[in-house]
Amino acid sequence: MTSRQAWTLVAAGALLWTGAATGRVMGSAALASVVDAAAPARLAETGLYADAGTFAIDPRNRPFTPQYPLWSDGAAKRRWVRLPEGATIDVARVDRWDFPVGTRFWKEFAFAGRKVETRMFFKVAPDRWTFASYHWNDAQTEATLVPPAGLPDVAEVAPGKWHSIPSHDECRACHDSGRTEVLGFDALQLSDDRDPRAPHAEPVTPAMVTLATLAAEHRLSPARPELVTSPPRIEAADGRERAVLGYLSTNCGSCHNRQSTIASLGLFLKFAVAGDQCTPDALATTVDRPGHWAVPTAPEGTSRIVAAGRPDLSALFARARSRRPSSQMPPLGSVVADREALALVQEWIAAAPAATRCAPSAETAR
Ligand code: HEC
Ligand code: HEC
Repeated sequence: MTSRQAWTLVAAGALLWTGAATGRVMGSAALASVVDAAAPARLAETGLYADAGTFAIDPRNRPFTPQYPLWSDGAAKRRWVRLPEGATIDVARVDRWDFPVGTRFWKEFAFAGRKVETRMFFKVAPDRWTFASYHWNDAQTEATLVPPAGLPDVAEVAPGKWHSIPSHDECRACHDSGRTEVLGFDALQLSDDRDPRAPHAEPVTPAMVTLATLAAEHRLSPARPELVTSPPRIEAADGRERAVLGYLSTNCGSCHNRQSTIASLGLFLKFAVAGDQCTPDALATTVDRPGHWAVPTAPEGTSRIVAAGRPDLSALFARARSRRPSSQMPPLGSVVADREALALVQEWIAAAPAATRCAPSAETAR
């Protein structure tokens, strides 16, 4: 089957099912299995490559790199987007972009120079994306569709620690929980004002899409010239705090946000471009706030989500550092803790962050 045939099938399924779906939650399981079934059996059929023999990328698929990447056990990643020809992204809500039906995203994971999996999702209906992951063979000549349950232990990332390909439920735990399915292609992630201290950030090459490219190519609707003239950035007390808040936004904010199913925890780590820049949620809902989960080694009553000046009493730090299934954060997606980012978070907490950056002390520090 050629990629074009696969896409017609998907589009037909989506059309059929858009009308039939009654409610997002009730209808989504049945809908997901129907459209997931239409994901092509081989990566080469998804439209990623212009030539499946040489793996030359189809030039309509544009590379990009998010300002704050997700930690995935040190995987090297490449990402591409295909926007339907002539279509625009609805950016009326600056923190919740709405992509045209037909949009496709791919993300390739490599460990030690070998491709392991390529994830993708594509928008099949106004309110529905299909998720798929493709596992590369040992010869690196082909990647085939992984079942919805995922595939365990596909690459050893540290002695005795194995990377697994997530299940579709796990994809959705991160990508669907804030109703903002796309996590690395938004106003903050594509900003042309890049954070020089963002952990594991990859260099932006001239071929990569950024806000400036999207604006120049008239892909944003409304046009929002301010995204180019004053590109979004996290205003913080200093450069270290900026990097920490960005890191938390990507690595934790996909679940810890105001729209999520776990919003009742009151812990919001997602950065909102349109939000309160004086007291961003990631400070207001963490600093010196007791959480539901207490650091096991902290004396009774002293644990805080972020205990200013005390990394050892800070649940956020303890859980980001842990890789025990019962306490690790994020709860899925990695088996090795991110040492570089942890060092940054630890320094940030030790320097006693304030809950708001607009207090006089924070102003002078800037
Ligand atoms: C632990 C949370 C998590 C899980 C689980 C997860 N993702 Fe992601 N994914 C992210 C984040 C965060 C980004 C953006 C940052 C980055 O790419 O480094 C992302 C980016 C992507 C992208 C690029 C488009 C975008 O949103 O920026 C694709 C495609 C993707 N993921 C597919 C998948 C698929 C398919 C699965 C399941 C097989 C999956 N992801 C599982 C968190 C997750
Ligand atoms: C895939 C979704 C997901 C991601 C991503 C995620 N978390 Fe969580 N987090 C949860 C859930 C669910 C809970 C509630 C259950 C529990 O405490 O284990 C939770 C609870 C917590 C708590 C306890 C809150 C309280 O009230 O005591 C902290 C602290 C926390 N997470 C920090 C983080 C940090 C830091 C990150 C990123 C490094 C992160 N989480 C990423 C799902 C997630």
